[in-house]
Amino acid sequence: MAMRDFDSQDGNLLFGGMKAADIAAQFGTPLYVTDEARLRENYRRVYEAFSRYMETEVHYACKANTNLAILNILRAEGSGIDAVSIGEIETCLKAGFDPEKIMYTGVNVSNEELRAVVDRGVMINLDSVSEMKRLADIKTGLNVSFRITPGVGSGHDAKVITGNKGAKFGIPKEKIVETYLQAADLGLKPIGIHAHIGSGGQSVEPFEQEMEVLTELVNQLDEAGIKIRFIDMGGGIGVPYKPNEDEMDLNALASEVTDIIQQNTDVKKIVLEPGRYIVADSTILLTRCVDVKDAVTKKYVGVDAGFNTLIRPAMYDAYHYITLANRFGKACTGRYDIAGPICETGDYLGHNRVMPDVQEGDLVAIYDAGAYGFSMSSQYNSRPLCAEALVCDGKAELIRERGTMEDIWRHQKVPARLLQ
Ligand SMILES: Cc1ncc(COP(=O)(O)O)c(C=O)c1O
Repeated sequence: MAMRDFDSQDGNLLFGGMKAADIAAQFGTPLYVTDEARLRENYRRVYEAFSRYMETEVHYACKANTNLAILNILRAEGSGIDAVSIGEIETCLKAGFDPEKIMYTGVNVSNEELRAVVDRGVMINLDSVSEMKRLADIKTGLNVSFRITPGVGSGHDAKVITGNKGAKFGIPKEKIVETYLQAADLGLKPIGIHAHIGSGGQSVEPFEQEMEVLTELVNQLDEAGIKIRFIDMGGGIGVPYKPNEDEMDLNALASEVTDIIQQNTDVKKIVLEPGRYIVADSTILLTRCVDVKDAVTKKYVGVDAGFNTLIRPAMYDAYHYITLANRFGKACTGRYDIAGPICETGDYLGHNRVMPDVQEGDLVAIYDAGAYGFSMSSQYNSRPLCAEALVCDGKAELIRERGTMEDIWRHQKVPARLLQ
């Protein structure tokens, strides 16, 4: 899978069988639009790559995108869920997931949240010794797994590397055997082992290193009398955001990782938690050019989506391909920075992009916006959250209404004495 490209009709980008311009005309901008067929294909591709080799459970990492329509589609595909908060668990239960299909991996979990998670009956993947002890005080007899810090990291930015030595996540690999034995003493049933090395990795090698660590620990645990039933390799499968960027070789990943498990252990089941891989390229963000500015040293395309709508460029310097949806494929004659309506210099969507001569009113498409797009959006600058649409068989439906000023004011209270 290379970076996704699209067909066009009369100079209009086609998305899910519709002209992007028609979708924007129907629902306004900024607008996230998801292609249902692509979402389903992505899930099936990753499930099939691994299940060819061994029993596989895909737990979609819903932090990437928690829209209820998207969750319902993935539930129907047979996906499980990786949830990181009680809020994500509630959302997935609302989308109809069975609690047994949900695994909770929190970090710095409060007792209140832990109790609520236990109440919902989902499997818990413990992140610390303290969390383990506090869980055993709440309830014993539960199947659990542990998040390991494998000492291997991978990711598109330092901020998303999670598996390195000293990371805030998980239990250091040196302490695993004693921790599992302690869990058993406390009346918990440790049956799984988990690690997540980071997000957006493009090469197979770190996953192999991770799996070497996990399988060695499985054998150490076996010798200590603890039988592990599944290995969870976490998420982190990258996608190509740039034209000509190399894609992760999914089949090599699946074959190498499952081979390490099968050669070294008698564990029969692998779990994986892809978020980005499943949703990123299922979705584009449509935003309208509202202002073109010549700032002498550069030209700006001012659009109606900023880092309130898509924070990845501002937060990680992440690259998203950007094109004009209403003059698709036209010769590029200018060089622009694409910036949003937020009053911060860091508010940009792309630097130094070649595009056709951009006019106010043009429709700008931001590619691969389905993962960590809407789910990280905010109401900063008192701008309500944007709308989301789903396209299927040439028809678009709204899956989230545009936010309103009432949403911004809801829950705020002004003491009566200030209302004089
Ligand atoms: C525990 C865990 N699993 C899975 C993921 C999903 O990562 P990605 O979207 O890169 O697949 C994350 C992302 O932060 C995570 O923390």
